[in-house]
Amino acid sequence: MDFPLQQLAAKPKATRVLDPFCGRGTTLYAARLVGLPSVGIDINPVAAAIAEAKLAQVTSTAVVRLAQQILDGGLQGEVPEGEFWQWCYEAETLREIITLRASLIELNTPTAAMLRAVLLGILHGPRNKGLPSYLSNQMPRTYASKPAYAVKFWKTRGMEPVRIPALDVIARRAERLLKSAPLAQGGRVYLGDSVETLRGLRQKFDLVVTSPPYYGMRTYVADQWLRSWFLGGPPEVPYSSSGQIARQPNQEAFVQALADVWAATALRCHRGARLAIRFGALPSARTDPERLILSSVRQADSGWMVKEVRPAGTSPKRKRQAEQFGKAGSAIDEVDVVADLIGTPS
Ligand SMILES: C[S@@+](CC[C@H](N)C(=O)[O-])C[C@H]1O[C@@H](n2cnc3c(N)ncnc32)[C@H](O)[C@@H]1O
Repeated sequence: MDFPLQQLAAKPKATRVLDPFCGRGTTLYAARLVGLPSVGIDINPVAAAIAEAKLAQVTSTAVVRLAQQILDGGLQGEVPEGEFWQWCYEAETLREIITLRASLIELNTPTAAMLRAVLLGILHGPRNKGLPSYLSNQMPRTYASKPAYAVKFWKTRGMEPVRIPALDVIARRAERLLKSAPLAQGGRVYLGDSVETLRGLRQKFDLVVTSPPYYGMRTYVADQWLRSWFLGGPPEVPYSSSGQIARQPNQEAFVQALADVWAATALRCHRGARLAIRFGALPSARTDPERLILSSVRQADSGWMVKEVRPAGTSPKRKRQAEQFGKAGSAIDEVDVVADLIGTPS
C-alpha cells in the first residue's frame, strides 16, 4: 500500500484515480482511504472480484444476512462430478457453496461483491485446531492444489472432509474484514483488457497509479482454479491465460503492449495528469526493467513526459510484488517511474 499512498500524497489535487492493472485493488483501496473515487481494470476474474469488494461499503450484518437469505432459499446449482469434490468438501458444506455460487453469479450489488470476496477468501485453506477459518479439507490458502494430487494427499492420510457450516465461517471472516472499513468514495472495477475497457470509459482521470505484470513473471491463473470456478468458471484447472499482458512472445511485444496501455490511458486523462508506475523484472528474464518501462512510455508517444525514475527502494517493510505472488525470489529489480501528461494526446 506504500506506493499508491505515496503517489496520492504527492498529488494532493487529484480528483479521480485510475489503475489499469488493478490486481486485487491496492490502489483503489488507498484512494478510498484518502477519500478519492477510483476506477480499476483487471483481466483476471479472481483479482477483479477481490478489487470490487475493496470499494464496497457494506456492513458485516448485511453480508451475513445475504448469505442466510441465499441458503434459506434452498439448494441451487449442480454438484460438480468427480472425486475431488467429495474429498474437498463435506457433502452439506459443498451444497451450501454451490448454492451461494449459483446465486452470486447472478447478483451485482455491493453486498454481493463483498460476500463473493469473503467466500473467495474462505474457499480453501488449512484445517486448524480451533474454529475453522476455511471451508475445505486441508489445502493451501494461497493457491488451490490440482485435483489428482489433492485427492491422493487426502486419501493416503485418511483425511475425510468435515462438516463446516458456511454461514459461521462467513460471519467470522466478514466481521474481521469489515471492522474498520473506511467510507466509500465510489468507483468501479471492470473485468477485462485494459486497452479495450479504457476505450469504452467516459470519465477522465488526473492520477494513474499502477503496477503492470512484471517482466518474466509467470501468471498463475491455474493456481486459482477453484476460486475461478466459484466465480462461474468450469470445475477444472484452466491452463490458458489469454489476454494476460505477461504472455507476450518477446520483449518487444511486451513493451508494445504496455505502450498501448499508456496511450489508451492518456486519452482518458486531463492535461497535467500524472502516471506513476511501479515495475520490475525477474532476474531470470535477464533484462533491465528500467529500460523496458521507459521504452514503453516513450513508445506510447502520447504526451507522457517522464519526470522521475527511481529504484523502488529497499525498505524491508514494503510488500514486493514477488512476495505478493509468493513464488519468485526476493531479488527482484523494481523501479518507480513518474510521468506527467504534458501534451494533448493525438
Ligand atoms: C502486478 S499485478 C497488479 C498488482 C496490484 N497492484 C495489486 O494490488 O494486486 C498485474 C495485474 O495486471 C493484470 N493484467 C494482465 N494483463 C492485463 C490486461 N491485458 N488488461 C488488464 N489487466 C491485465 C493481471 O491480471 C494482474 O492482476
